[in-house]
Amino acid sequence: KNQYVPVITLDGPSASGKGTIARLVSQALGFHYLDSGALYRLVALAAMKRGVDAGDEQGVVGIARSLDVSFADSSIRLDGIDVSDEIRAEACGEYASKIAQYSALRVELLERQRDLRKLPGLVADGRDMGSVIFPDATLKIYLTANEEERARRRHKQLMEKGINASIAHLVLALRERDERDSKRVASPLQQCEDTRLLDTTGLNIDQVVGKVLGMYADSGSIE
Ligand code: DC
Repeated sequence: KNQYVPVITLDGPSASGKGTIARLVSQALGFHYLDSGALYRLVALAAMKRGVDAGDEQGVVGIARSLDVSFADSSIRLDGIDVSDEIRAEACGEYASKIAQYSALRVELLERQRDLRKLPGLVADGRDMGSVIFPDATLKIYLTANEEERARRRHKQLMEKGINASIAHLVLALRERDERDSKRVASPLQQCEDTRLLDTTGLNIDQVVGKVLGMYADSGSIE
């Protein structure tokens, strides 16, 4: 690989809107899109289906090694079956957050993620995109919003899928997950020096997308 492939990384806590923003930014630029959380969720789902306990590191790594996934035209498939909705369940996110602390699992998923860096460019969202997976990214953003707004967004998302949950409960669940993701030893969620903070509290989707595109235009990338 001699040609530099631009990458925009969007890291941040759960329900910060990373997925929505990353997808729209990738569409605007005609870039590829990596939803790294989906990989952890896929391993979680496969492990749950096979009855592997989240505490069983060897078992979980084994599942990741043999993971048969495909990201075909916006549907995410596990063993050929569309699991796009299933992996969004809260239980799957919880389980994913628990197993994400295993460094052997993270190593197992490393190349799968880097392989997606292809011309004309990539937008990647997750927790360690800028810190570990793409340290030489063109633009690194830490996307966040205050807790209440994140809980409200998650609530709306769940309601749209017909799933009931109280905001108060969601605040607690988000807090617990973010603590686990930030305090783990292996590739924790963190805001690095070379990362731009983007607080989306009170902003709508178009405004956030506009800000990211503006930052990218300012980053000196030559298109
Ligand atoms: O972004 P998400 O909610 O889909 O991610 C689910 C879990 O996967 C998250 O709680 C922690 C883990 N994860 C990770 O450790 N590193 C990433 N780059 C992305 C997700």
